[in-house]
Amino acid sequence: MPRKILVTSALPYANGAIHLGHLVEYIQTDIWVRFQKMRGHHCVYCCADDTHGTPIMLRAEKEGVTPEQLIARVWQEHKRDFDGFHVEFDNYYSTHTPETRQYADRIYSHLREAGLIEIRSIEQYYDPVKEMFLPDRFIKGECPKCHARDQYGDNCEACGAAYQPTDLIDPYSAVSGAKPVRKSSDHHFFKLSDPRCADFLKAWILPPRVQAEAANKLNEWLQSGLSDWDISRDAPYFGFEIPGAPGKYYYVWLDAPIGYMGSFQNYCDRAGLDFDEYWKPDSEAELYHFIGKDILYFHALFWPAELSHAGFRTPTGVFCHGFLTVNGTKMSKSRGTFITAESYLKHLNPEWLRYYYSAKLNGSMEDIDLNLEDFAARVNSDLVGKYVNIASRCAGFINKRYAGRLGEIDIAATAPFVAAFESGEIARGYEERDYGRSLREIMRLADLANQYIAEKKPWEMAKQEGREAELLEVCSTALTQFRDLTLYLKPVLPKLAEQVEAFLNLPALTWGPTWAPLPAGHCIQEYQHLMTRIDPKVIEAMVAENRQSLEPTVALADAPAPVRHAEHQQSQVEATPSPWEPFIGIDDFTKVDLRIVRIAAAAHVEGADKLLKLTLDLGGETRTVFAGIKSAYAPETLVGRLTVMVANLAPRKMKFGVSEGMVLAASDERGGPFLLAPDSGAQPGMRIK
Ligand code: 2FM
Ligand code: ZN
Repeated sequence: MPRKILVTSALPYANGAIHLGHLVEYIQTDIWVRFQKMRGHHCVYCCADDTHGTPIMLRAEKEGVTPEQLIARVWQEHKRDFDGFHVEFDNYYSTHTPETRQYADRIYSHLREAGLIEIRSIEQYYDPVKEMFLPDRFIKGECPKCHARDQYGDNCEACGAAYQPTDLIDPYSAVSGAKPVRKSSDHHFFKLSDPRCADFLKAWILPPRVQAEAANKLNEWLQSGLSDWDISRDAPYFGFEIPGAPGKYYYVWLDAPIGYMGSFQNYCDRAGLDFDEYWKPDSEAELYHFIGKDILYFHALFWPAELSHAGFRTPTGVFCHGFLTVNGTKMSKSRGTFITAESYLKHLNPEWLRYYYSAKLNGSMEDIDLNLEDFAARVNSDLVGKYVNIASRCAGFINKRYAGRLGEIDIAATAPFVAAFESGEIARGYEERDYGRSLREIMRLADLANQYIAEKKPWEMAKQEGREAELLEVCSTALTQFRDLTLYLKPVLPKLAEQVEAFLNLPALTWGPTWAPLPAGHCIQEYQHLMTRIDPKVIEAMVAENRQSLEPTVALADAPAPVRHAEHQQSQVEATPSPWEPFIGIDDFTKVDLRIVRIAAAAHVEGADKLLKLTLDLGGETRTVFAGIKSAYAPETLVGRLTVMVANLAPRKMKFGVSEGMVLAASDERGGPFLLAPDSGAQPGMRIK
């Protein structure tokens, strides 16, 4: 049964460029949406620019344009960048629109009728020169803890302390430089502390609606008690004025998620869909929000609480992802790893990044790392070395010798492909946003296809008379395998898949319920080169360009960072590089399975100057490892010793045999290698952690 699904990604602020950090989410969502569409579901992907708030108002003023002009320009830039990465929204809209205003007013008035809006007077810092109230990020002063100067009103970037703006010593307005005064005004609050909200949320924030790790975090917040949420801001403000409250505007975070509705309404008007069918409380349609972990609070507490008390359905799922690090640390302007979408596209193919991110995404909230060296190695080995290679090795024979016409296929060689299709494992990975799992399975199949070609050696058949039928069968089979891989990779590599569809002369590939080979007699087109390898030098050039081009903009550090919930703000401030960077997280470390082993046997290897062959007892299992320690150890002195091995290193075929792990040893110019030895008591098989 086709499902009806509405999907959103978080709305990017309309005052900054899209960068590689943003793209984790848009690529993740786009892949999921493309997958759903290929499966035949009715899936709509809506997004918009998040256009309101003080930073946007002030940025426009600084640029000498109106906020409307600024957001119109940035919309074009954002749309260009998303198109460049093949992020295919069904609607990319703006929150500064009649549709969003209409739903904001409707939600606000419902909440008010439900007794969930309260007006209270609060005291805040006010800039007497600029005549405006100052958000925390626009007040600066001396840190009350470490006395660093010029720190923001919510936290200190020198010592990390969090505080109230009123705690700052000698505060000043970052807008005018004036000394702020304290002034009171009426604010509208959404009464999240009302037991109706807490009771509703307690029952709502459960897996699978949110991931288990998110549910834990949300429960913590709930346990510590929810505070009422200040949803109004005073003029001057760029946003929607609250009806019946002159000079009061909805806070940007109130209307941002309502922008999802605004964008969808706009889509419905174009596409002839019924908005209410998707948003009424008992709707059968599914609604999913893809977000970053820093805005979980807004999407899984404020947002469902608002919706449920305003007569709308709540999301079916809120899918949270982690942050992006580049080479193991925060994106950094000084290291050149703060890379905008625009700059990436100038140098590199967007599908390379789509592939790499997918390989790293697993549906959890863990951060993902873009290691630039690994990025090049992985794309070159998987996409060029394994996938594209299949077509490039076989297509020529079909084109040249058989006028592009395919023959019968080898059933035995496609059997694992049929089994993979029927197991549904790849589809499950996509559905669960564990794209890494899907890609591992896809690459396993690519390995099988390459093994098949390597065993059959079509290039030799082509030289031998009388083997024409065999050659045709091998190449037709490999191209059917290639077609399967293309289908599976299509959500990730949509443009490459289009090129392959043209080359294989097939209609757009969809993920139907049954498997069939490419039929005998089917004609393919001339093979055109599909993908080039990443040249690491191009990556270096991109990083260098970002390092240089960003230097002159350091003065812009004064520009307001997007106003977010202070507690969850991902600071883009870079740390001073340490010689130990890039750091790894504990998760990276625990990936390495280190074990105590007993050296059961050790022997010289004929013909090898550096290696000893070790037989290692892992407490039951034995492993053969070739270790480069011959210069320091006579084999007979090693037998019986305990040492440490990496037990989960992929087996490696060497000239002298397969090495099934690695032993650890220390060395530098002072000597070595020195094998590691555990303290007494350690037993073979014990894990080192
Ligand atoms: O954090 C941000 O970048 C916000 N602009 C996200 C808004 S998401 C949704 F609520 F609109
Ligand atoms: Zn400090």
